[in-house]
Amino acid sequence: MPAPVKSVLPVVLLGCGGVGRYLLRHIVSCRPLHANQGVAIRVVGVADSSSLLVADDVHSSGLDDALLTQLCAAKAAGSPLSALLGQGHCQLFQNPEARSKVIDAATMLGRTTGLVLVDCSATYDTVSLLKDAVDHGCCIVLANKKPLTGAYEDFQKLVSNFRRIRFESTVGAGLPVIASATRIIASGDPVSCIVGSLSGTLGYVMSELEDGKKFSEVVKKAKSLGYTEPDPRDDLGGMDVARKALILARLLGQQISMDNINVESLYPSELGPDAVSTEDFLESGLVQLDKSMEERVKAASSRGNVLRYVCEIGSTGCQVGLKEVPKDSALGRLRGSDNVVEIYSRCYESSPLVIQGAGAGNDTTAAGVLADIIDLQDLFRKTA
Ligand SMILES: NC(=O)c1ccc[n+]([C@@H]2O[C@H](COP(=O)([O-])OP(=O)(O)OC[C@H]3O[C@@H](n4cnc5c(N)ncnc54)[C@H](OP(=O)(O)O)[C@@H]3O)[C@@H](O)[C@H]2O)c1
Ligand SMILES: *[C@@H]1O[C@H](CO)[C@@H](O)[C@H](O)[C@H]1NC(C)=O
Repeated sequence: MPAPVKSVLPVVLLGCGGVGRYLLRHIVSCRPLHANQGVAIRVVGVADSSSLLVADDVHSSGLDDALLTQLCAAKAAGSPLSALLGQGHCQLFQNPEARSKVIDAATMLGRTTGLVLVDCSATYDTVSLLKDAVDHGCCIVLANKKPLTGAYEDFQKLVSNFRRIRFESTVGAGLPVIASATRIIASGDPVSCIVGSLSGTLGYVMSELEDGKKFSEVVKKAKSLGYTEPDPRDDLGGMDVARKALILARLLGQQISMDNINVESLYPSELGPDAVSTEDFLESGLVQLDKSMEERVKAASSRGNVLRYVCEIGSTGCQVGLKEVPKDSALGRLRGSDNVVEIYSRCYESSPLVIQGAGAGNDTTAAGVLADIIDLQDLFRKTA
């Protein structure tokens, strides 16, 4: 016998791309599990870049599971959300009306139910909506890093009620990096440093170089394995790692912005997207980088070290780039596309807390988002 439902968590999802669709599938397939835990997730609205599909009466019901399943299929096939009209108890609103409909739902449900706004988009544009939702007492869950890595004031506003925001999947996909750091901080144990390899692509590339392979060949192999963005310079430039580093630095209380982070790009500006096409970069640009990379790998090896592309957040600020680490450390032993994070504090001084595992993928990321949503339910559990 499942336990009676003690809390209903209404959710509005912003973004139904790779991660958002996996999230909807997980929500539907976890119904029995959540019922056993006394929780029900009610998806009252789903938005993409142009419109919002919303349940007729957000007070009493959500979009039903059959509709959510159809929605996933339609979006995966490239259809717009409007293709789902006429399928049941829902309405469609185009931008900019869609935005005011989300605010309406936030006004109605925020304070009473903690309506969760889940951002699985990849844009800065959601930030003003998220800030308004915070004002209406809503909870926020993010896979999207951008709202947390813009102006410091935005970050401050979003985390102003820290119990009502979760953003685990912005760093290391499903890995509990933020949760672990938050627990250490909350216990009064000062975190002195976080060092992490937070790009599956660059983790793979750097570990392959140890075997003496050429940088250009390893990058092309990574691309053929689907580990890189369509233009590998989007990974090699380090900006994605820098965003994750900024989120961690701000979590540790540093009031900094992207401009304050030293980011080492693995290609020079002469080979940047403004100067060289993707094809030319892959064909003739990459090989120009082989020699200097080989020298750095050898120099590290002569000192018993290996090179890793890491973010390092310490008391003196935040750096992103290549760093020599001991072969015999969690970072040094890293192989393949895993992420690894070492957290140093008074309690974890000589032996850091290490979190390691797959750090990307739609499925894993969506699972992290779902766990974040469930984590918020206790705030609104009805007292018997
Ligand atoms: N995939 C991973 O491994 C991974 C890991 C960690 C974090 N993340 C983060 O998770 C987020 C989602 O990734 P993804 O791969 O699912 O991205 P995606 O496939 O590009 O999907 C983005 C979705 O957001 C929608 N969107 C765009 N602007 C919007 C707006 N203003 N309001 C509401 N929705 C909007 C898009 O609408 P249309 O359908 O109309 O284009 C699309 O449905 C990203 O921020 C990414 O960095 C991903
Ligand atoms: C994630 O989903 C997107 C959009 O459906 C897809 O293009 C991409 O290949 C998926 N990524 C993985 C690792 O499955």
